[in-house]
Amino acid sequence: MGSMEAFVRDLPKAELHLHIEGSLEPELALRLARKHGAALPYASVEELRAAYDFGNLQEFLDIYYAVADVLRDADDFHDLALDYMRRAHEQGVVHAEIFFDPQTHTARGIAFGTVVEGLSRALIEAQHRFGMTHRLIACFLRHLSAADAMRTLNEVLEYRGAITAVGLDSSEVGHPPSKFAAVFDRARAQGLLTVAHAGEEGPPAYIHEALDLLRVRRIDHGVRCEEDPELVQRLAREQIPLTVCPLSNVKLRVFDRIEHHNLKRLLDAGLRVTVNSDDPAYFGGYVLENYLAVQRGLGLTRAHLATLARNSIEGSFLDDAAKRHWVAAIDARADNGSGPTGS
Ligand code: HPA
Ligand code: ZN
Repeated sequence: MGSMEAFVRDLPKAELHLHIEGSLEPELALRLARKHGAALPYASVEELRAAYDFGNLQEFLDIYYAVADVLRDADDFHDLALDYMRRAHEQGVVHAEIFFDPQTHTARGIAFGTVVEGLSRALIEAQHRFGMTHRLIACFLRHLSAADAMRTLNEVLEYRGAITAVGLDSSEVGHPPSKFAAVFDRARAQGLLTVAHAGEEGPPAYIHEALDLLRVRRIDHGVRCEEDPELVQRLAREQIPLTVCPLSNVKLRVFDRIEHHNLKRLLDAGLRVTVNSDDPAYFGGYVLENYLAVQRGLGLTRAHLATLARNSIEGSFLDDAAKRHWVAAIDARADNGSGPTGS
């Protein structure tokens, strides 16, 4: 009987909630700061890591946007994405749907095309080297205006061959999905898929709005749905994937400790829950560490873990044939790994 860690690592998994800027490790951030002569407010890896102690989402975002300033040319975005894909591959991620924040870069004078070119080059390289597939999702910063998002959507459409979907992230409270209804209408009319962060710090009403007004295919986070029992029933009935990020939720104090996370309750209620890393360089782990944290903290069984992996494939934007292939591979592993000793 292998270890729980080996069991989780060997399950084919999709990562559906990963901000590529949030995978910028201190080592790479400092190398890029030196390369560009950019001033980072932190002088060492230790100083950077020590700053990663957050009271809420906004405290995190302030540091995250400051550090992203070292990303300047296409090679930087390439190196960032290739580092992430290599780590994800080592953890059994076979497919990654990756968020990026165009406005964080275009507002600093970095061209949209520079970002997409660097990311895409790495993602295609990862396909050849690691056999991984990917999708790119451009997120609008919800603390900025709808007009700014609409201008950004026009740039997304120029690169629609490389971009599958649009999303919504940044400071949630006070910036409801309804603010972006017209932007998402246009995105869908142009053939893009949609997702949105909702119900991380914001109320269940934001999840309703994301579903009804933005017509999203998934809810990112969504953990506050539990405050609205009818919404929980709807999410279960419609099998809307929730891209839950357990270590993020503890770091940003959505839950005070992993043992109090509601992931297991949502899973047991039949929701299509997935496990993801959000901003792994800031929150203490990539996808494997997130699975293991909830396994230990909530006492998940191998059957739970296999369900989470299956949900990640089913909730992805892969085509049906690819989904069937990976689900069969998960089923085969789960049958092997759920022998009489259980763990
Ligand atoms: N929430 C909102 N915006 C974000 C996050 C998050 O968890 N990570 C990066 N941008
Ligand atoms: Zn996120």
